[in-house]
Amino acid sequence: MEIHKYEKWWMIFGTGTLIVFLIILGVSAFHGGTHPNNSKWTINYENVDQIEPFNNPGLHKVEGKDWDYEVVLVAQAFAYNPTEIEIPVGSKVRFIATTKDVIHGLEVAGTNINMMLEPGYVSEKITTLDKAGTYTIVCNEYCGTGHALMYSTLKVVDNNDNN
Ligand code: CUA
Repeated sequence: MEIHKYEKWWMIFGTGTLIVFLIILGVSAFHGGTHPNNSKWTINYENVDQIEPFNNPGLHKVEGKDWDYEVVLVAQAFAYNPTEIEIPVGSKVRFIATTKDVIHGLEVAGTNINMMLEPGYVSEKITTLDKAGTYTIVCNEYCGTGHALMYSTLKVVDNNDNN
């Protein structure tokens, strides 16, 4: 069988682009941590307040895990619980969040923490907070009349700074 010259180039080009896209997808998924919500962790959104860990929202120091802290966040129209979180700079943190009513979009402005919160599902993100500062946790998914008022504050603090 004879393959025409242009046909051969086209096959090389096609295979090449496929490989490039698979590499980009692989890097963003495994290195960048881009992935959909953890659909395996489901929750009854009507009883969020009674179910662990959401019965105790806030910052928790953890031992013997790959991360130093866990931040448990509960979203509802139109607020986050807790309204303020303070974490030492350089901490590796696992964010765990869910919603009690409609879909909200939990985004820590200025970072790569950006999770859609869907009723009945728990969203997670593990990240290292290596830049001190005050970050606003916004809602980036329109959820009703109070959407623009829905926020919480994340303070990443340097304890050696005496501030
Ligand atoms: Cu919650 Cu918009």
